[in-house]
Amino acid sequence: MAGSFVPQLLLALILACTSVFPSLSFAQSGFDFFYFVQQWPGSYCDLKQACCYPTTGKPASDFSIHGLWPNYNDGSYPSNCAGSSYESALISDLKEELQAYWDTLACPSGDGEKFWSHEWEKHGTCSGLDERSYFESTLALRKSIDLLAALQSAGIEPDDGSYEVEDVQEALKQAIGHRPGLECNTNISGKRQLYQVYVCVDTDASTLIDCPIFPSTSCPSSVTFPSF
Ligand SMILES: *[C@@H]1O[C@H](CO)[C@@H](O)[C@H](O)[C@H]1NC(C)=O
Repeated sequence: MAGSFVPQLLLALILACTSVFPSLSFAQSGFDFFYFVQQWPGSYCDLKQACCYPTTGKPASDFSIHGLWPNYNDGSYPSNCAGSSYESALISDLKEELQAYWDTLACPSGDGEKFWSHEWEKHGTCSGLDERSYFESTLALRKSIDLLAALQSAGIEPDDGSYEVEDVQEALKQAIGHRPGLECNTNISGKRQLYQVYVCVDTDASTLIDCPIFPSTSCPSSVTFPSF
């Protein structure tokens, strides 16, 4: 009798645990999707806190990568997972591309290493990818998604003009195939402006999907698109 009771009890315990803590059953790649986040440099640089151009010079007037962030369907996210610490040498041949698409605007001016190291350690270590694949996948996403071209084809230009958020979203949806999440910030004069775009990506780090949940950031119905 005890021989059949104990395994059943164990099974019941395991089932109870995995239903209460579903993420525990998948080790560190147990997240639900990625946010691929791109930022508009003009909306980073006109805030109270200064921005500093990277040591390589003023970045292009284009969206740049903020990061590829593992996320859960409930809006929370894993961070700083156990994993290897950032090793510059593993991606040294990607540095030129990283500087073009994933440049840093933080002060003091840097060459990007500090930014990439932060993104890898906070988010990349939870991605289930090794460091090199993490940066390669993120660059590939950036190259396949041209947010600025999508906006410009709808007549939305970084000209300090005011645009309907609905039009911004529609233009991006046309290009991406899915509605993106938008984040706005506020410039010194109190104007709300387009700051970051969140595209949802499957756990394979390449397939674009409908967002299971949108970031809890908000934009008013009309926003400015600052020049840079
Ligand atoms: C804030 O945005 C508005 C609208 O684009 C612009 O006219 C104003 O100059 C901006 N203020 C600063 C300090 O950049």
